[in-house]
Amino acid sequence: MRIQAASEVSTSPARSHPRSPASGASEPILGQAHAKAILFGEHAVVYGSPAVAIPLHALTTTAQVRPLARGTRIHSALFHGDADDAPARVQPLLEAIYSAQRHTGMTQTGVELRLDSTVPYERGLGSSAVVGVSVARAIAALAEVEMTEDETFEVAMDCERIAHGRSSGLDPRTVISQVPIRFHGGKVSPIQVGAPLVFVLADSGHAGSTAQAVGAVKASLEADPTRVSGLIDRLGELAEGSLEQLARGDGETLGAQMFEAHRLLAELGVSDVALERLVDAAQAAGATGAKLTGGGRGGCVIALARDDDYGAKLEHVLRSAGAARTWRTTVEAA
Ligand code: PMV
Repeated sequence: MRIQAASEVSTSPARSHPRSPASGASEPILGQAHAKAILFGEHAVVYGSPAVAIPLHALTTTAQVRPLARGTRIHSALFHGDADDAPARVQPLLEAIYSAQRHTGMTQTGVELRLDSTVPYERGLGSSAVVGVSVARAIAALAEVEMTEDETFEVAMDCERIAHGRSSGLDPRTVISQVPIRFHGGKVSPIQVGAPLVFVLADSGHAGSTAQAVGAVKASLEADPTRVSGLIDRLGELAEGSLEQLARGDGETLGAQMFEAHRLLAELGVSDVALERLVDAAQAAGATGAKLTGGGRGGCVIALARDDDYGAKLEHVLRSAGAARTWRTTVEAA
């Protein structure tokens, strides 16, 4: 089995010329990518503020590809069949395939692609970016072309544009990264983490449309520029300030900043009743911090737990408060 994961992806701009696809290969050709969660700076990042995000290694998507004489066939949870018959919801996946074919020079060959994913759709965990990155990696492996991180990012951005319209690029950059990142003005830097941090993610059970949430923030900014730009600036300050807390491993201050970021996001109009209930339940149960993560108006909450045992209790608390699913992840010191 051949899997192209991030560790195998070249960061150098040099790349080989495309060879004919590995059609004789007996083993499946796979590309894999993990989900992400935004710790600080969602929405504000669209207006140029810094943001901080972490990889979620436990939630992954695997794209399996094989060459076809012509055309594009897909097998995913949303659709099985020919590209010509695919519904609108599958267009981001198709765009990822076509973009990866353009980037690898594999435009004369058809592709059959199967997508297996544990990343929930439309829950603020970056599912479209994960699709873009896993497809880019699979098609690069099929074409036997070395794709750089920047090219992988470009494929994921093509997918994101179809899924969300305007995208800051934060999601694809975090999905490509193996470590937590600071993202500012399109530039990425790894973050220093002074002590392990245990996070719990809770799915509100409701889909959130990132495009609609981003559109709603834009409309509020136009309607009330002074108030809304103040909220965006403060969200950016919290993201920048969190770097020091993360470096020191200061969970208490970090958690307090998460609660504040959540209140600001609610004022921006991107929270909802289910997300409020989850953040309130986390706070009442003594979580160090909690906020919505990603586009909001549905999707997930991310909460900070003081240790792993408490994280397990917090998962239980959040499920009792209505979470459809929960996950636990530790960001290791680095
Ligand atoms: O909901 P997600 O996982 O697609 O995250 C969106 C993050 C936003 O800041 C709201 C939009 C963006 O392009 O950065």
